[in-house]
Amino acid sequence: MDEVITKSNLKAEVEESNKYRLLLSEEVIQKRIKELAAEISADYEGRCPVFIGVLNGSFIFVADLIRELSIDCEVDFFKLSSYGDAMKSSGSVRLKKDIDCHLEGRDVIVAEDIVDSGRSVRYLDSKINKMNPTSIRFVTLLVKWDKAKLNRKIDYVGFSIPPDFVVGFGLDCAQKLRNLKAVYVMDESP
Ligand code: IMP
Ligand code: MG
Repeated sequence: MDEVITKSNLKAEVEESNKYRLLLSEEVIQKRIKELAAEISADYEGRCPVFIGVLNGSFIFVADLIRELSIDCEVDFFKLSSYGDAMKSSGSVRLKKDIDCHLEGRDVIVAEDIVDSGRSVRYLDSKINKMNPTSIRFVTLLVKWDKAKLNRKIDYVGFSIPPDFVVGFGLDCAQKLRNLKAVYVMDESP
């Protein structure tokens, strides 16, 4: 893996070589985001939910999702860390940046790039519930159902994917490859 991430242009390597498996194309992702936005817009009609994105991975998803909404919304971000630069979750969730907005009496929609072990969702659900929101729902672009251990439902799911390590569309490998427009599978031993 070290050899991979020190390549001079890893993005080009992923996009142009056929060593990496394309999992979700740009077109497929954008179509699904429009569907999710339509569903959320209908569910929250006449309301103004606060989207809480989880940095860093969700920034592209949040940007694309909220621009497809037909309702008003507000946006803020938590920054969490669980993976560091590794390809496996460290097992503990740390808060690296808090939100500035008040969530009491608000409709909150937490937006994740991917639900993997489910630890981040559990952490955020409990943290946000203590802030007395009117409602709290979760939207995620991706979920690894086989791995996720959850005691709450994920209200809006873009795609259910196998438990492989994936990159692109906000998801990184050692901080790189967030700027891929599609999602690729990156095996541990390419
Ligand atoms: P959790 O294990 O559900 O708490 O997920 C924690 C975070 O790990 C996610 O929000 C992602 O930022 C990151 N993550 C999980 N799976 C992957 C992956 O396959 N590629 C890149 N990042 C991932
Ligand atoms: Mg994340």
